Amino acid sequence: MAKKVMIMDTILRDAHQSHAATRMRTEQMIPVLEQLDEVGYYSLEGWGGATFDSCMRYLNEDPWERLRTLRKYLKKTPIQMLLRGQNLLGYRNYADDLVDKVVEKSFENGVRVVRVFDALNDPRNIESSMRAIKKYGGKYGGVCEAAISYTTSPVHTLDYFVKLAKTYEDMGADNICIKDMANLLLPFDAFALVTALKKQLRPETKIHLHTHNTTGTGDMVNLMAIQAGVDIVDTALSPLANGTSQPATEPLVATLKGTDYDTGIELERLIPIAAHFKKVAQELEKEGALNPKVRLVDVNTLIYQVPGGMLSNLMNQLKKAGKEDKLPEVLAEVPNVRADCGYPPLVTPSSQIVGTQAVMNVVMGERYKMVTKETRDLFAGKYGQLPMPVNEEVAEKVLKGEKRITYRPADDLEPEYEKIKAEVVSKGFYTQEEDVLSYASFPEVAENFFKWRKARNQSVDSDLAKSGVYPV
Ligand code: CO
Repeated sequence: MAKKVMIMDTILRDAHQSHAATRMRTEQMIPVLEQLDEVGYYSLEGWGGATFDSCMRYLNEDPWERLRTLRKYLKKTPIQMLLRGQNLLGYRNYADDLVDKVVEKSFENGVRVVRVFDALNDPRNIESSMRAIKKYGGKYGGVCEAAISYTTSPVHTLDYFVKLAKTYEDMGADNICIKDMANLLLPFDAFALVTALKKQLRPETKIHLHTHNTTGTGDMVNLMAIQAGVDIVDTALSPLANGTSQPATEPLVATLKGTDYDTGIELERLIPIAAHFKKVAQELEKEGALNPKVRLVDVNTLIYQVPGGMLSNLMNQLKKAGKEDKLPEVLAEVPNVRADCGYPPLVTPSSQIVGTQAVMNVVMGERYKMVTKETRDLFAGKYGQLPMPVNEEVAEKVLKGEKRITYRPADDLEPEYEKIKAEVVSKGFYTQEEDVLSYASFPEVAENFFKWRKARNQSVDSDLAKSGVYPV
């Protein structure tokens, strides 16, 4: 059953997050936003992920102001954002009242599609976000997209993913995204997975595929998924595509042109926009934000079955310990540790936890002689439910009597919005409700940004404002 394929372009978010540490500035986007709006994309990803942190930490930009600017120019194309479930835009678990507020303000300021995921694929970690998306998205025609963190392991079978997708569908997801952040998904597996999801999910549920081209299989993954009936795929305009970023938009548009899957996008429209981003990419490279190496194919993931970022972390840790020769043993230990803790997907943060523990187990010469706090929390259920029961013998050794939780981790958290708001007000930084959310996400970074903003607005310290840099 062939049909038109839709495209989400990631040029305004994941493309430069993957290639240039999220350093593209709003002013580098504005000149082509109106042209992007005319292309006919399903959506443009422009917010969430690391945007929030990077805007305030490095670019002296208010992330909310960026969103409002995007909305001003993108009149037809929905803006899509990425939300880390209960971790929102930061790295800790937030209370439900903050989840609610972030989602409300995201829609109010212009987001129309929210992709939400949990690293462990624990539905309880995204249920409060999904409820808020349904609640606040309604009046804007908002779309709730629940994402599966794709990984490979003996328990991450086709049936596992289909069951998870059905759970998300029952929780109210309009779209199901296959989120393959490490480019672990192989083309024929993509075909099988999309085929199974299409068969098992409701006909109105859209399947959205997100992959990267780190290992060089991205274009093939997309094409096989398209043949299996995927509705939407993610690509990036060519100047910031491929390697650690998404496969490029233009070749896919050309490939599908005139076929039953035709995207309806005119290649000619993309050329001037890509020319603009080529200049932007050159600027980012000149600033040192973009290392051309990110464009290369890295087949290590295919060989070692660990994501590229995790492998370089392992090598760095071993180098620091002066045990670089132990890499083969560590790589053999990774699947053992992973099995012990119930097969978490190897994505942030579990990839770091499992990797660090594997290094410790090998370097110490005894398994779990030393454990990190994170390993203990993972075993204790504080990150959420693991895909499989943990190895009890190991759990006892790791937890040393510490209590395990079986409820949703965020159930422990008291409402926090009002408290944080009072703090922002008392420090004299409050200008909008959104400031509270910025501060909640990254307190120190936000405070430095607020100081800079205040200096600029009041011209109290014009040198400071001009320098554009507040010491962090
Ligand atoms: Co991504």
